[in-house]
Amino acid sequence: MERIPVFAPCTGIDTLKHLTDALDVGWIGMGATTKEFEDRISAFLGLTDRQVIATNTGTSALHIALVAAGIKPGDEVITPSFNYVADHQAIRMAGAEVVMCDIRDDNLGIDCAKAEPLVTNKTKAIIPLHFAGLPCDQAGVFSLAKKHKLRVIEDSMHGFGTAIDGRKLGSYGDITCFSFDPVKIVTSIDGGCVIVASDQEFSNLQRLRLLGVDKDTTERYKNRRAWDYDVVSEGFRYHLTNIMASVGVSQIKRVEEFIASRQRVCRAYNDAFCKKPGLKIPQTDFSDVSPFIYSLRVLDGRREALIAHLQNLAVDVGIHFIPVHKHTYFAQCRRSDMTVTDKVAAEVLTLPLHSNMKPEFVERVIAGVTSFPG
Ligand SMILES: Cc1ncc(COP(=O)(O)O)c(C=O)c1O
Repeated sequence: MERIPVFAPCTGIDTLKHLTDALDVGWIGMGATTKEFEDRISAFLGLTDRQVIATNTGTSALHIALVAAGIKPGDEVITPSFNYVADHQAIRMAGAEVVMCDIRDDNLGIDCAKAEPLVTNKTKAIIPLHFAGLPCDQAGVFSLAKKHKLRVIEDSMHGFGTAIDGRKLGSYGDITCFSFDPVKIVTSIDGGCVIVASDQEFSNLQRLRLLGVDKDTTERYKNRRAWDYDVVSEGFRYHLTNIMASVGVSQIKRVEEFIASRQRVCRAYNDAFCKKPGLKIPQTDFSDVSPFIYSLRVLDGRREALIAHLQNLAVDVGIHFIPVHKHTYFAQCRRSDMTVTDKVAAEVLTLPLHSNMKPEFVERVIAGVTSFPG
């Protein structure tokens, strides 16, 4: 029986054509295709008053977003422990201290009531995560940030296309970061982006992305390099190449199709599992959600048994996440109580979800979960 992987890329002859066309141009580094990818991200998200900087990973996007937001050594940044460790590493890369907060039981996003007591005069930013593409308490985060003058860098890596009140993540707010890594809905093999409103921060980000060089970005967008330049700040080598961007362009052309196909699978999963005792399914009809993963909760300590049951049926599963306060390198960070995080971390289970997932795979996952005794 064919194993069903948790993730599967949806690339075809279209991606291959974009790649070979990009190779034929003879300029494989950052260039015009990088700019085209940025323009397409902007168009898809409906950006009107903000700009996009494509990067080589989502992690590097977070890092330079923090630096551009003015985060520096000695500052503190609050983020959930129930998050991917990329955020915590990016905070440390910016020289700041990681402060971890618990999550809410309903949307598995940051619990603002528990975040507020963590704020000190060193706290300068907050990084909320929209887990699995479902919105966190964004209004609560914005109001906390306003009250304490914090920057908000939204980790929207799981929600490329998710909308709140009809507006897509990234099209408003402070700073937003996305990832286009190999398993994301839109992939550029590896890649990411920062979306920012201020022109000053936009040009700072361009320099931060490219070794602090002041005017190379505009030249490279024309598939050539500036030979006369100055270095005016620190900088990193975080730019996205034409080759990677060409994969991203091929993918973003199909993003609506990908999202719709994933929503259909998530709804089929919810319909099939909603009456099964011992499971807690995502509380959404997915209409405004761009679902990166389908994560449900297995109650009563039965998760490992369900994993074994599905493994026997050749259905792979994932776990998002091991809370970051459990990792050695981050165990000493200041944090709130982790009551919900610790409970949820023992319950979450990620089922296979692919763009244009084979119907046979969907049926087998559903049959696997519904045949689990209990
Ligand atoms: C929630 C979250 N934040 C950050 C990242 C980092 O993105 P990247 O893998 O593109 O560096 C990921 C990637 O998996 C993620 O899931």
